[in-house]
Amino acid sequence: MKRPEEKVEKLREEIRKHEYHYYVLDDPLISDAEYDGLMMELRQLEESYPELLSSDSPTQRVGGQPRPIFGSVTHRLPLLSLDNAFSYQDLKSFDQRLRKELGELTYMAELKIDGVSIALVYEQGVLINAATRGDGMVGEDVTSNIRTIKSVPLRLNKELPRVEVRGEIFMPKREFLRLNKEKEEKGEKLFANPRNAAAGSLRQLNPKITAGRALDSFIYDIMHLEGKDIFSQQEALQFLKEAGFKVNPQAKYCQDIEEVIQYIETWVEERHSLPYEIDGVVVKLNPYAGRQKIGQTVRSPRWAVAYKFPAEEAETRVLEVEVNVGRTGIIVPTAILEPVFIAGTTVSRASMHNFDLVAEKDIRIGDRVLIHKAGDIIPEIIKSLPHYRSGQEENILPPDRCPACGSTLVRLDGEVAWRCESISCPARLKESIVFFASRGAMDIEGLGPAIVEQLVNRGMVSQIADLYKLDLEAVAALDRMGKKSAQNLLQAIEKSKKQPLHRLLTALGIRHIGARSARLLTQNLSHIEDFFAVSEEQLAQIPEIGPIMADSIVKFFAEPRNRETIALLQEQGVNMSEPKALTREMPLLNKTFVLTGTLQAMSRQQASEAIEKLGGKVSSSVSKKTDYVVLGESPGSKYDKALGLEIKILDEEEFLKQLAQWQQSI
Ligand code: IVH
Repeated sequence: MKRPEEKVEKLREEIRKHEYHYYVLDDPLISDAEYDGLMMELRQLEESYPELLSSDSPTQRVGGQPRPIFGSVTHRLPLLSLDNAFSYQDLKSFDQRLRKELGELTYMAELKIDGVSIALVYEQGVLINAATRGDGMVGEDVTSNIRTIKSVPLRLNKELPRVEVRGEIFMPKREFLRLNKEKEEKGEKLFANPRNAAAGSLRQLNPKITAGRALDSFIYDIMHLEGKDIFSQQEALQFLKEAGFKVNPQAKYCQDIEEVIQYIETWVEERHSLPYEIDGVVVKLNPYAGRQKIGQTVRSPRWAVAYKFPAEEAETRVLEVEVNVGRTGIIVPTAILEPVFIAGTTVSRASMHNFDLVAEKDIRIGDRVLIHKAGDIIPEIIKSLPHYRSGQEENILPPDRCPACGSTLVRLDGEVAWRCESISCPARLKESIVFFASRGAMDIEGLGPAIVEQLVNRGMVSQIADLYKLDLEAVAALDRMGKKSAQNLLQAIEKSKKQPLHRLLTALGIRHIGARSARLLTQNLSHIEDFFAVSEEQLAQIPEIGPIMADSIVKFFAEPRNRETIALLQEQGVNMSEPKALTREMPLLNKTFVLTGTLQAMSRQQASEAIEKLGGKVSSSVSKKTDYVVLGESPGSKYDKALGLEIKILDEEEFLKQLAQWQQSI
């Protein structure tokens, strides 16, 4: 039998190897499930032997609490930036300058990754610090966020006393598009490009959020190395790779500047086929000896230069605006454009995401506009070009009603998006039903997206309530269905009629109302009709229900189409109330109160009666069993005793507020 230390270390090594193959080399050796199995085994071992835990264990990427602010880090060596070259002529002048001083030379040409510059410090092979570039001298300590990026090794393959490297954290195009889509559906502001998205994700105070964004890294520079000599950039990249870093595979050794220019020409053409964005090519003098000779200014080294690609932008005209309803009910304005060729394709439409953005950019129908492709893929209007205006241009305003179903559009506090509030809107219907049937909602087993797709497409369901009218024969005739599974499905649908109100409330998919808040709500409002009448103020009285939720609930129930959907569900026999056992009928059951001092709003007698009506008891002396002490004016020694026992103390105002809530909940 191996000792646990050995077992843990062996497992870690094994996992590190697989992470390296998966995240750095993009060439996994085992399946995800096998990898998960190894991780699980390690986690269990570490749980059994907590003394073996160490911060460079693969299980420790996401840890720690959200922090209030980032600390600052003074870089040991300044993180320089680069001079730019915008033409081949600029590059040739750079080359001439270097050759004049050095004679023979060679270059490394590397892709200029459009991300966020970072510096990493490893001691004895273990990552101890990660910082942003900041102003070059002082950056922000983003160690706990960087640790969540799987291609950044927590431990190197080489145990050197100290290694300081520099590289770029970036967001792959796919992840950027996914994230923005998610943001659009949530009605949030979008990131302008993958670089901003990477920067925004790195600057999250909660590392769990960073961990949820698929950030990636390329390391390209050794700033400081103890224990080994390196003589050129080419060797440096090789060393970085061997140490376990992800190094960009497209870096190329070039004999002269002509070869560098060839490299640039290739990548101007090929850049769109890369899974990440680049904004140029970095040209670096290869031999380190030459670098020393050439030196640097305070701002940038003289031995390197960044060739910037021309921005890929084009001018065109907005012909008209189409307003679409997304699958979650979000209203998205799309500009129809005069077709124009840009970054490899002809573009004739561009999403404008939301009407705030249209107003912010002051885009009008008939305007000439400048466009580009966000994340190299999604056509987007950068800005309008007002000097071309003739005066005939038309403003673009949100419609009053949903273009798909005619419901009123609403916008919730803090969101940029307008939404159709009707859950039965044809544009939202499929999504609404899938959610309605989901596990945490009405829990209708077997009613997944594929079936819903068919039910809606075949016109069998055009309203959520139609689910309860389905015909066995027709269901059995669906693709991948049979008599037996149709019977099961109808049974599951039938069974869902009995679900308690909190599940129905969750199933309605009201923005910001999840399963937990639905439960809290139905403990206070136990029939659906209570929701038709409730005000924002009343809702805000319920513990944990904030103003955003209250706003959302009121707007949802104000929409006549939602009331109609609920009425139709009720007609079909769907339960509309919370069973008594689930409401806290006696909210103060088993709770003991002690009153001390004089209350202003009511007599002691009245207060006692109110408490007892809610199931509570009033006692005359404070003990460990006391749950609440209510504090009137000039309280006696009971107050001191309560303080000593750390009993919950309510002053009169708090008591009255609580009392109102408790009363409401029955
Ligand atoms: S070398 C002293 N190499 O571009 C060495 N920089 O405009 C300086 N960048 O701040 C950096 N890819 O954030 C280097 N392959 C690459 C790069 C790269 C992207 C960024 C880096 C730097 C900026 C300079």
